[in-house]
Amino acid sequence: MDFETRLARPEDVAAIVELGRRTFALAYGDIVLPSDMDSYLAKFFDPELLKSEILAKAATYFITETEQGVVGYAKLAETERPDQLADKRVIELIRLYVRPENYGMGIGNGLLKAVKQQALAAGFKGLWLRVWEKNNGAIRLYERDGFKRLGIEPYFIGTTANPVVLMFEGLTTGEELY
Ligand SMILES: CC(C)(COP(=O)(O)OP(=O)(O)OC[C@H]1O[C@@H](n2cnc3c(N)ncnc32)[C@H](O)[C@@H]1OP(=O)(O)O)[C@@H](O)C(=O)NCCC(=O)NCCS
Repeated sequence: MDFETRLARPEDVAAIVELGRRTFALAYGDIVLPSDMDSYLAKFFDPELLKSEILAKAATYFITETEQGVVGYAKLAETERPDQLADKRVIELIRLYVRPENYGMGIGNGLLKAVKQQALAAGFKGLWLRVWEKNNGAIRLYERDGFKRLGIEPYFIGTTANPVVLMFEGLTTGEELY
């Protein structure tokens, strides 16, 4: 199946919100209380929020499309850095999600490649992320790509704290941290 990955525009927001809510609920539905999930989805997948992030360039969204529409997306933004990276010019990969029907087609890898190119072009030296420690598929993808584990920390979704792995990948020589 042919697919194309590109920067998202404000008119893509409805499709990102729909895919984002569905894939997030699927990934965390078993470990987050339903009431916490509902408020998280309403808050972080609010179309007005996403539109304003894109217009203000507060975050960069990438989408992957097939003839069926948007099947994957990623979000990149400069956020508060973890202590280990406090003095580094690094940016966070906040979300990387693919529609389950399209897993294993290279869409996740393609989104990651686009994210890394964008981060480098914007002058960042590395990429960091948090991933739920039991998310073995995603951790494998990141490690194969070159991400290293920096540690484990709690991440709150509503009232539930979930252990997440903090990961980092240098994008230029000398930024490996190891
Ligand atoms: C993780 C995710 C984005 C991967 O997307 P994808 O389009 O299926 O990935 P790709 O087809 O590009 O495969 C990328 C690599 O990861 C591996 N991989 C992906 N998911 C895997 C899984 N569940 N188990 C084992 N390996 C997996 C693939 O084998 C591939 O390896 P390769 O590059 O050596 O060939 C997708 O599974 C997803 O959306 N998961 C749910 C959301 C999520 O966990 N996001 C990350 C949150 S931080």
